[in-house]
Amino acid sequence: MPHIVFIATHFVGNTNRYVKAFTELDGITFSVISSDPSSSIPPSMRPKIAAHYRIENCLDSVQLIEATRAIASSIGRVDRLVGFLEELQVPMAEVRDALGIEGLTTEIARRFRDKDRMKEVLRAANVPVAQSALATTTAELQAFVAKIGYPVIVKPRAGLGTRATYRVTNAEDLAAIPAPTSAVPLQVEEFVRAREHTCETVTVRGVPVWRSGTRYFPSPLEVLETPWIQYAVLLPREDDDPTWKNFHPTNDAALTALFGDQAGTAAGTALTHMEWFLREDGTQLVNEVGVRPPGVHIMPMMGLTHDTDMFADWARLMSFDQFTPKPRTSAAGACFFRGPGSAEHIVSVKGIEVAIELCGDTLFHMKTPKVGDRRATGYEGEGFAIVKHATTEGVKHALRTLIENVQIRYG
Ligand SMILES: Nc1ncnc2c1ncn2[C@@H]1O[C@H](COP(=O)(O)OP(=O)(O)OP(=O)(O)O)[C@@H](O)[C@H]1O
Ligand SMILES: [Mg+2]
Repeated sequence: MPHIVFIATHFVGNTNRYVKAFTELDGITFSVISSDPSSSIPPSMRPKIAAHYRIENCLDSVQLIEATRAIASSIGRVDRLVGFLEELQVPMAEVRDALGIEGLTTEIARRFRDKDRMKEVLRAANVPVAQSALATTTAELQAFVAKIGYPVIVKPRAGLGTRATYRVTNAEDLAAIPAPTSAVPLQVEEFVRAREHTCETVTVRGVPVWRSGTRYFPSPLEVLETPWIQYAVLLPREDDDPTWKNFHPTNDAALTALFGDQAGTAAGTALTHMEWFLREDGTQLVNEVGVRPPGVHIMPMMGLTHDTDMFADWARLMSFDQFTPKPRTSAAGACFFRGPGSAEHIVSVKGIEVAIELCGDTLFHMKTPKVGDRRATGYEGEGFAIVKHATTEGVKHALRTLIENVQIRYG
């Protein structure tokens, strides 16, 4: 039986869905490393966990190595090390390299984590990407702007959640952002005007076996630039829609380049989350790729639209290099509730009952924002809804209904 070790950080929300999926998977020995004590593990999952090891910081590969060694000496050889968080991918790869565990190596993990390295690898493989540079000084930043002109986008080299990501349209904007240094360089890119899509791909030892895709309304950057905008993600019913299908060769070329000569190994077994731009003229650009399951509720949406449990499917994929592709049978969407204004707390939430009534059976799940909740800083807002319908139009209609009816006020 393969011995799978999962890095859980904290036993909250999403993490528990992944942990549960592994505890329900037959034919594996399952252990967990976390920062939370074992008393935080949900009781129903405890009997299936062979070993638990607590460390202070799950992002520290030295502590992870110690924990993995300890688990190996008490339970037996570790075959796979898995975790779904973006920030975990490089530390986990360092542990694999240090202990000789099959899977993503540090070199490959860095290609996914470091936006500059990723773009270099893609460019070398003729995969279309935005013009970009890694600036370690203000002079380098200015030189890039002088070359390609405003606007540009400036973001962290290893970003997450569109944090510290700026659209820079003039010299004044440029002067306002923290200057890059060699310790904290900045990724600077040509500003791409385009629709934003995703492509989720299951690869088994480098071979793509299944794809799904979504569209963001509007782009995560526009959401954060405009406080009242409610963000939505749409997964259409048509799995042969040319918009997404035409991207598959680019997706294939990008993943082949990123996995490189490791593609044929367990390193090439993954569910990847690729964000890409589609411009008016039909040209595509790859923005970034996560070598991990997608966020923004795309996991449950993929499950709903393909009559499966994607968390369970991912657990099986990462444990056995196995995946059974399922056909798409419906459309799904998610929207995130946010309100205008910048005050700290929610003082009123209106329209929930009306929205629920109007959506009817289309509404699958809703987390309602609550009066008194602290205003969220990210594009995911203070609440969300997930919808499912037999048609793409049905999902669009439901998302519109939710966004128009649910009104949050801060004060
Ligand atoms: N070159 C670009 N041109 C236009 N918009 C961009 C560009 N790069 C990034 N953006 C915008 O900023 C958002 C965040 O950028 P990116 O996806 O690279 O970083 P991230 O913080 O890792 O993202 P995520 O929010 O997916 O975790 C993108 O979704 C897009 O809206
Ligand atoms: Mg992104």
